[in-house]
Amino acid sequence: LERVTIPVLHRWKQEGRRIVMTTAYDAVTARIADPIVDVLLVGDSVGNVCLGFDNTLPVSIGMMNHHLEAVVRTTPRALLIADLPFLSFQLSVEQTLRNAGGFLKRGAAAVKLEGGYARCVEMVEALVSCGIPVMGHLGLTPQSVNLTGGFKVQGRTASDALRILDEACRMQDAGCFALLLEGIPAELAARVTDSLAIPTIGIGAGPSCSGQVLVFHDVLGLVSGHRPKFVRTYLDGFTSLQAALSRWATDVRDGAFPGPQECYALPDDIGNAIAN
Ligand code: KIV
Ligand code: NA
Repeated sequence: LERVTIPVLHRWKQEGRRIVMTTAYDAVTARIADPIVDVLLVGDSVGNVCLGFDNTLPVSIGMMNHHLEAVVRTTPRALLIADLPFLSFQLSVEQTLRNAGGFLKRGAAAVKLEGGYARCVEMVEALVSCGIPVMGHLGLTPQSVNLTGGFKVQGRTASDALRILDEACRMQDAGCFALLLEGIPAELAARVTDSLAIPTIGIGAGPSCSGQVLVFHDVLGLVSGHRPKFVRTYLDGFTSLQAALSRWATDVRDGAFPGPQECYALPDDIGNAIAN
């Protein structure tokens, strides 16, 4: 399997080969996903998917580093991107460089940040000028949930759609190597994708993006509760895992586990000696 780099992604965009991306939060998810997908994201969705928070705002740079390090230990061949969490890339250029550079020192190949307003553009320029590749993230940006009043589709009015198109161009000009488009109408994502030279990766953004991303646990049905419209689940993982765990629990209660093949035995002579 080819090691995925940013030039490889750009070549695939030229060739019209669609890019596949999912999240990885630890060594288990990374080992499962790495041989299958092109891009692995240590997403700040770790906050709601793995850590039990309601949204991504409580996720810190320390939490991200902890999960990134676990993924890096599996030496993935996919392009490894780490998500800059809320408040890790806003306060100053210096702190942004320190946090993003810390991801690269730990083994990430690139970082991702949400938003397309002027301050984001400034941060992207600073990062790229220091050799830190950036994926932008536009449309529904979960770190702005308090501003938008919920996880709502963006770009549904003419002015909002034009704003997102404008932000996309600015983020490309600032040096982003790719853009993630979340929760926007398919027609708008198609227009953005056509307008850019860099690849777009969509989630709830229709089929015309250069690639698609879904959260690992969503694809495999490992989350209970509300499932957004844009998710397609390929396994009822939650139910399947519970069913298997429940068979083991039953075997324990019935004395059917462990069996002889799951036990260590003493050599016969010592067995005889301790039997008396
Ligand atoms: O954190 C995350 O999982 C994301 C998604 C859009 C893939 O940013
Ligand atoms: Na994210």
